[in-house]
Parts: sequence; C-alpha cells; structure tokens
Amino acid sequence: MTKVIALAGKGGTGKTTISALLLKYLTARTMTPVLAVDADANANLNELLNLDVEMTLGKIRKELKGELPIGMTRDQYMEMKIHQALIEETGFDLMVMGQPDGPGCYCAANQYLAMTMDKLAENYKYIIVDNEAGMEHLSRMNLRSIDYLFIVSDPSARGIMTARRIADITEPLKLEIKQQYLLVNRAPDPVPPALQTKIDEAVAEADMDLAGIISSSDDLINQELSRASYLDLAEDTQVITQAFAIFDAIFDHS
Ligand SMILES: Nc1ncnc2c1ncn2[C@@H]1O[C@H](COP(=O)(O)OP(=O)(O)OP(=O)(O)O)[C@@H](O)[C@H]1O
Ligand SMILES: [Mg+2]
Repeated sequence: MTKVIALAGKGGTGKTTISALLLKYLTARTMTPVLAVDADANANLNELLNLDVEMTLGKIRKELKGELPIGMTRDQYMEMKIHQALIEETGFDLMVMGQPDGPGCYCAANQYLAMTMDKLAENYKYIIVDNEAGMEHLSRMNLRSIDYLFIVSDPSARGIMTARRIADITEPLKLEIKQQYLLVNRAPDPVPPALQTKIDEAVAEADMDLAGIISSSDDLINQELSRASYLDLAEDTQVITQAFAIFDAIFDHS
C-alpha cells in the first residue's frame, strides 16, 4: 500500500526543506520507490535537489485541451505525457504540478490527470507532497487520504499557535488524515524552556503529536547557497541526524 506524506504550515516555515529531508531519509533507508510531488505553483523543491524541470502537470493540462496526435487515445496520450513529466532519479521520481488551472475548474483535463495520477501512485511505496502554505491546496490535490501530515512551524509562540489552528481545520476537509504531527523547524539550540512549554501545551491540547524539533542549520543554508543538493548532505551533519531520528521514530520499517 502506498503511504502519502504531506506537508502543511505557514509560508517560509520549512515545508520544502522538510520534504527534501524526508526524501533523503526514505532513499537512505531504501524505503523506495518514492514519488516526490512539488505541488507548489512556484515550484522550488527541484532546486533543493538540484534537478532541472522541463515539463509540469500544468503544461500537460494545457496541451490536453488541444488536438490529440493521430492514432492515439486520450488515455495513451496522458500516460505518455505524465511519464515525460517524471524526473527519474535513483530511488525516487519527482513530479512538478506547476500552475493550477484557476480555482474551481473541474474540467475534463483535470479528471484525466487525476485518474492517471492515481494509477501512477500505485507504483510507489511513499509519496511526499510538498505544498504551498494553506490547507485549501491540499484539498485540491485529489488525494483521498494522507497517512502522515507534518505541520511545520517556526520556533515562535505565534508560529506554534498557527500550527495548532491548522491542526484544527484539517478535520472538515474532504480527506482523511490518519496522523498529524507538529514539526518545529529552525529552532535555537538548545531549545529555550518557554518555547518547549508552548510546544508541549500545543500537542497536549490539539489533535497532533510532536514529531520533533529541528535546529537552525548553517549546513542547510550553505548547501542552498552553493546550489548543492540537500540529498548530498553528509549523514553526520546535525540537521540530518536530527531529521533521521525524528523519522525513525515515526515510520514503520517493516
Ligand atoms: N532548519 C533550518 N535551518 C536554516 N535554514 C532553514 C531551515 N529550514 C529552512 N531554512 C531556510 O528557510 C527558508 C524557507 O524554507 P522553505 O522554502 O523550506 O520553506 P517553505 O515552508 O517551503 O516556504 P513556502 O511557504 O514559501 O513554500 C529557505 O531559505 C531555507 O533554506
Ligand atoms: Mg515551499
């Protein structure tokens, strides 16, 4: 069974960074194959992975509105296009959603896409969905359920409050979230006791578990500045050790 991991949290908290760390984790533990989906209209996960993107689902959707090549059914054409849009790497593929079709559009192209994506999803052990801020994007994604939702927060009282609010609004969404976690990112090391108290209160009162706390990391900043892939960070860097310990406690290795 394919497990879906999704990221939520307000802008700039580290959703894309955590997506890249998750991808590094799953491939390092050979919990593969993984499909990484960049669902941000302004795609940037590929940059942290140092991969070039040529085709996106948004572009495919546009092309589908035109004429089909002679001798091809729409299904065949879709499948071919989707495979062209997959960036295939060792242990994982990356799919970039690109620009959406505008709010409330449920045109035929979207339905074909959703069906083809469903079929594609079955090929993977894990799917990581990197979102832009805001839960409405998640509900637009045609996912039926999310196995692990990571709500990423900055290390501030207001940030933790926002994460709590996000945890509370996931219930009415038309998708089942099996487990949701708070992940506090870019925290000072050591964690100030007052921040720890805020975190403890939030997980006690809201419907979310604490995944863990990741420190502010110069290694991440330097890796990004030198345009090197986060996947190439050494396993003994602090941020990788922290992230892997968090994920080891959450994911089932059987
Ligand atoms: N633990 C960390 N230590 C240092 N810098 C970090 C850390 N986590 C994220 N950053 C930096 O913070 C910035 C924002 O991170 P990121 O792009 O992952 O956030 P996001 O939640 O995906 O943002 P958006 O809402 O725009 O998609 C990036 O420049 C990233 O390198
Ligand atoms: Mg992002």
